[in-house]
Amino acid sequence: MRPELLQVVVCPVCHGRLGSEDGWTHGGLRCAGCGARYPLAGGIPDFTKSEDPRRGDFSMQWRARRRGSFEPEGLTYGVADAALVRHILAVSGDLAPTSWILDCGCGDGGKLAAAASARPDLRFLGLDRHADLPAVAHTCRDLPNVHVVRGDARTLPLRSSSMASAWCLGVLHHLADQPTAARELLRVLLPESWLTLWLYPVPGDLEHPRVRLAFELYYAVRDLVFLGRGHRLPRGVRYSATAGLAWLLAGPYEALFFRRVRSVKRSFEGAWQRPLAGAELRRHLHFLFHDDLVPELQTRWSRAEVRTLFGKLGTSKVRAWQTAAELELLRLPGFYLVQR
Ligand SMILES: C[S@@+](CC[C@H](N)C(=O)[O-])C[C@H]1O[C@@H](n2cnc3c(N)ncnc32)[C@H](O)[C@@H]1O
Repeated sequence: MRPELLQVVVCPVCHGRLGSEDGWTHGGLRCAGCGARYPLAGGIPDFTKSEDPRRGDFSMQWRARRRGSFEPEGLTYGVADAALVRHILAVSGDLAPTSWILDCGCGDGGKLAAAASARPDLRFLGLDRHADLPAVAHTCRDLPNVHVVRGDARTLPLRSSSMASAWCLGVLHHLADQPTAARELLRVLLPESWLTLWLYPVPGDLEHPRVRLAFELYYAVRDLVFLGRGHRLPRGVRYSATAGLAWLLAGPYEALFFRRVRSVKRSFEGAWQRPLAGAELRRHLHFLFHDDLVPELQTRWSRAEVRTLFGKLGTSKVRAWQTAAELELLRLPGFYLVQR
């Protein structure tokens, strides 16, 4: 941890100021308000005191990916990390140099590293609750504008109005109390700044029939093949079962979706989803199916429900399409831009 992180981190319980105890690598942080102490594990502050690591824990998935399983580096969920963050940053308004940007639920840190490389003038904070964060810090070790924190989206250890922009991709729908996390995300944003979300879409909202079919099949793996119980399987069984399924379904998937990528691409707008084939496609599907099963919860919202959720939180508005980059981002199903 580097001292400048204290500009934005606070106690998640009382939002009190934090001070360092016994150094920046193995010591800890103590709250000047309530006295709570938060350890530094390998230099990463850990605010997940009451976390139950068994519920929807993605650590094993990110570890396996780092060891060479799943998709190649730089590609996550079939989308190039660098292309995605370029779009997110393009729609995030004017970001003054040294502004802080939050990646909430940063996963393996691929997008964090891509964004920090593209914008060395900004400061990026990657937050997640999984236990493999030292590997994220290692990935970003040559990027002095990246900070990594272990924390919970529902009680962000961040100062109010401290972030100039935030993204939270594929996280809220795994939580039991999404409004709490949504409120927290808005709290830490500066007024009028932007939050980019990715949430599982409902098939009824998807206009392109092939994209709708892709999501229906994906949901069927979790709901029908594994009867909604995939998260209860032992890790090794889940890993092997999803590898087998990827092997079986790669052919049909390629025929149905990837050979026709040109027509699908129109609805994905932009050439992010490059046609995958052979071993690369199997590894992509293995990752998708595994990621589908890990969390205990997987809520799917309609666009109307997302608008209602943020409407109830008062100050926010879900953004209408304005710029070309925004149009491109929002046409990928499940993306939302919300203004504080
Ligand atoms: C589906 S993955 C998405 C990762 C990354 N955002 C991406 O798009 O590549 C969901 C991530 O959210 C994290 N997560 C789940 N619940 C969380 C919580 N309450 N607070 C912070 N992170 C959480 C998981 O550990 C996991 O890394």
